[in-house]
Amino acid sequence: MSALSRTLLILGAGGHGRVVADAAIAQGWKRIVVSDRDPARVGQQLLAGVAVLPLDEAVAQSDAVHVAIGSAAAREREAKAIGLPLATVTHPRASVSTHAEVGAGCLLTAQCVVAPGARLGTGVIVNHGAVVDHDVQVGDFTHVAPLVALGGAARIGSRVLLGSGSKVLPGVRIADDIVVGAGAVVRGNLEVPGVYAGVPARRVR
Ligand SMILES: CC(C)(COP(=O)(O)OP(=O)(O)OC[C@H]1O[C@@H](n2cnc3c(N)ncnc32)[C@H](O)[C@@H]1OP(=O)(O)O)[C@@H](O)C(=O)NCCC(=O)NCCS
Repeated sequence: MSALSRTLLILGAGGHGRVVADAAIAQGWKRIVVSDRDPARVGQQLLAGVAVLPLDEAVAQSDAVHVAIGSAAAREREAKAIGLPLATVTHPRASVSTHAEVGAGCLLTAQCVVAPGARLGTGVIVNHGAVVDHDVQVGDFTHVAPLVALGGAARIGSRVLLGSGSKVLPGVRIADDIVVGAGAVVRGNLEVPGVYAGVPARRVR
């Protein structure tokens, strides 16, 4: 049985959940259910025809889950707690090399590029228009935001947020749990946990 012929639970009914649902529908999942831990969201329509179900009801119907939560810590926590296999969602207009490795529970959105030799861990988001060049490594639950450019063989840790439009030069290393601000240019390794912004990127927190 192909994975797409099963039922996918999208956990997280916010804006990011809408992006995931849109990609999963385009990918061709036969059946999609959506839920959220926030009871106020239950009963709402995430997209036309896609209603938010109570969590226990949604889990009972599902074969796999995609955790659609932007926060890396929350995404990691839910992925470990929910007790279903993690499903990667790939929009058909994502350009993903057959020579790249993609972990479980990743999201590869429309117009992103994942080049040969790239390796993505578990639960990684590669958002619209982002480029993960050849031989880049991206750690678990990292979010590569829209229009980010990661130069060849860059090594990005786990739970990193690379803000929209930021650029990481080839071969540069970024340690776990670092935040890189929108539009930053990272020219040298970032080892100390914190928030970095600007051109070139400097620590601001
Ligand atoms: C970098 C960032 C995380 C800082 O947020 P914060 O911790 O709340 O910090 P502040 O807004 O107080 O900013 C701290 C300092 O950094 C500067 N700064 C913040 N963001 C900056 C950016 N993107 N580029 C340059 N400087 C920036 C601020 O001007 C401020 O400088 P000051 O202390 O001289 O006044 C945030 O501004 C950012 O860029 N987030 C990325 C969001 C994003 O792209 N998300 C992806 C969505 S899909």
